[in-house]
Amino acid sequence: MSTVNHQVRLAARPSGLPRATDWSLTTEGVPDPAEGQFVVAVSHVSIDPAMRGWMNAVRSYVPPVEIGAVMRAGAVGRVAASAHPGFAVGDAVYGVFGVQEYALSDGRGVITIDTSLAAPSTYLGALGTTGLTAYFGLLDTGKLQEGDTVVVSGAAGAVGSVAGQIAKVKGARVIGIAGGPEKCRVLTEEFGFDAAIDYRAGNVRAALREHAPRGVDVFFDNVGGEILDDVLTRLARGARVVICGAISQYNETQARGPANYQMLIVARASMTGMLVFDYQDQYPQAMAELAGWLRDGKIVSREHVVHGSVADFPETLLMLFDGVNTGKLVLALDGS
Ligand SMILES: NC(=O)c1ccc[n+]([C@@H]2O[C@H](COP(=O)([O-])OP(=O)(O)OC[C@H]3O[C@@H](n4cnc5c(N)ncnc54)[C@H](OP(=O)(O)O)[C@@H]3O)[C@@H](O)[C@H]2O)c1
Repeated sequence: MSTVNHQVRLAARPSGLPRATDWSLTTEGVPDPAEGQFVVAVSHVSIDPAMRGWMNAVRSYVPPVEIGAVMRAGAVGRVAASAHPGFAVGDAVYGVFGVQEYALSDGRGVITIDTSLAAPSTYLGALGTTGLTAYFGLLDTGKLQEGDTVVVSGAAGAVGSVAGQIAKVKGARVIGIAGGPEKCRVLTEEFGFDAAIDYRAGNVRAALREHAPRGVDVFFDNVGGEILDDVLTRLARGARVVICGAISQYNETQARGPANYQMLIVARASMTGMLVFDYQDQYPQAMAELAGWLRDGKIVSREHVVHGSVADFPETLLMLFDGVNTGKLVLALDGS
């Protein structure tokens, strides 16, 4: 175990896209665990669009990351030192360990994972918060029914790719919206979507008319903005619009709302925000089901793993907003 801990801290609150000057890289000694604590050597950091929101000093579902604090992040690692009865040296664990090489924990919110069943990065992807968001967003908030026509935006990303695949498992017809021809190819050829729409090619509404002639029963939205407005015009009667995320708006200083919300009246539709953390008591059952689908080849987990050190975090975060990733974006700390 190293004696130094490199960390990424929030240095300033960004306006628009985060810049290099919004971060500071610090070095500390690796902490010693007191009674009831353990130290995790972080191996894989989850890179999430939500991180952009946590940098803002606004009301949200979690407090903002304070200036000077280690950046919040879900992560996977191994217990490197322990004075906690429930966690032994060598245990593989998931928790909110932050963008740093070593994290001190008292075990709250930490789960032990089995890396013989799936790669550590998969516990940030289909077997982690990503998969759980797709699962509860689609099945609980979206009230998916067999035979539904489902549209997923951000479809080639982490949550979107799993949401579309779960919809297929449940017997829906699934249309994905993603940026670029290669992502659209992956949607139909690797993730098994029925159709893909390249929003960068323009005219999403015409493509929706073609692929969803009877309308959209469930819209699983990761993107917001113009794409949300386009899909609102194609809702079937009784449609459920699941507001999972709105990545197109996260760096806007003047975020826009949906202009076409009156289509909810026409379609007698609902539009509901969901948050995965509300389902914590149901995680074990959902994870078991997701693991079963993965094992049986009914879904695949794709992870886009960037190998580097914590110093690569600021650039890696920007990849989400440039649409570089297909599947779950993960920073593997093997270049330290
Ligand atoms: N509610 C919850 O509990 C919860 C939990 C987890 C995640 N989320 C939300 O779910 C969404 C997806 O998260 P994720 O982790 O799966 O990220 P992701 O989809 O893997 O990555 C982001 C993707 O968004 C797309 N994108 C970026 N800027 C865009 C823009 N301006 N317009 C359209 N698409 C854009 C890019 O794909 P393209 O190349 O296709 O543009 C990019 O690859 C996010 O909005 C996130 O905040 C919500």
